[in-house]
Amino acid sequence: MVAARRYGVRPYDGGVTATVPLWERERRWPLMRPFVYYLMENFAPPSLVAGARAVDFSAGLGDLSRYLVAGGAASVIATVPEASLDQASAVDGVEWRPGVLASRIRESFAPGSVDLFCARMVFQFPRWEDGRVDVDVMLDQIRDVLAPGGRIVIASHAFFPLQTYSSLATEKDSEALVAKLVSLATGAPRDVHEILTEEAQRLAGLAEMVQYLGLPPRDSSAGMTGYGLRVPLLVDSFIRSGLTLEAVDDAEPFTFPLGVWERFETAEAEVRRLGAEVMAIKRRWLLSPEAADPYTRPGAVRSMLREIRRQIPVVWVPIVRIVARKP
Ligand SMILES: C[S@@+](CC[C@H](N)C(=O)[O-])C[C@H]1O[C@@H](n2cnc3c(N)ncnc32)[C@H](O)[C@@H]1O
Repeated sequence: MVAARRYGVRPYDGGVTATVPLWERERRWPLMRPFVYYLMENFAPPSLVAGARAVDFSAGLGDLSRYLVAGGAASVIATVPEASLDQASAVDGVEWRPGVLASRIRESFAPGSVDLFCARMVFQFPRWEDGRVDVDVMLDQIRDVLAPGGRIVIASHAFFPLQTYSSLATEKDSEALVAKLVSLATGAPRDVHEILTEEAQRLAGLAEMVQYLGLPPRDSSAGMTGYGLRVPLLVDSFIRSGLTLEAVDDAEPFTFPLGVWERFETAEAEVRRLGAEVMAIKRRWLLSPEAADPYTRPGAVRSMLREIRRQIPVVWVPIVRIVARKP
């Protein structure tokens, strides 16, 4: 029997220092983070980093900030949306700036003072703040804080559907659909059983991921509810913002490990070991010559996912990466 798991975000009171911001602390992100994406050299190649006055917007654990410092950025400001955090000593060479909500980007930096504005896996989140903030509002502000010739680099969940069926109680409730598929699978011919069961497992996995991350729901043009940003709309927002697009990529897939958060308390050391292994697998494949060539890359990504799945069951969803330049 397949059942969608419910993730209840619980405050965590041990093992993660007070320097970890709230979103990350509630989810025990230091344990989850290594499983889900790598995106470092591929996100901001060294040529973009060297000598840049860089910002790591909603920097989370500061791992990208550390990479920016090591890559020779002239300065690195890491932000958190929370009002106050004593993050001063968290990463050498990084100035932490609290209170930088998506609606307050313009007032948080001097005009024209940033050469590289990084927003890694953040743009898909801000829909809150009383509905005042979305992609267009963020880009409008970021354009003003960029220096002429400065760049913005973002990575975000690309839209993926979790369809709404009339029998479901809420948009996020895929459990009813999963239960339905499982009941249909019972007694079905072998191949139908296999298809329905696999689909039920995939949907249960996606529902677990969405609830764990707290991703806001989005509508697609085809009337489906899903999560993540629609790439055509995202690209259109960049064009309308007056920034010049330089790259729109399919980045590595986001890989969510199933059932792992349930083991944070009971098997922390094992989770940590698995996370390090998954990160090492990702690094090895994503920095390989096969991944650099667009013709061999799909095969490399497939092999990477196969290798990760030998360690742990995952669901995966697409990540889009965009680079744009202020004229
Ligand atoms: C998936 S985490 C990414 C963190 C980090 N950039 C990384 O790559 O590890 C999403 C981040 O979005 C931030 N966030 C959510 N809503 C926000 C808002 N309205 N304004 C600014 N940041 C926000 C959360 O605090 C969280 O740090």
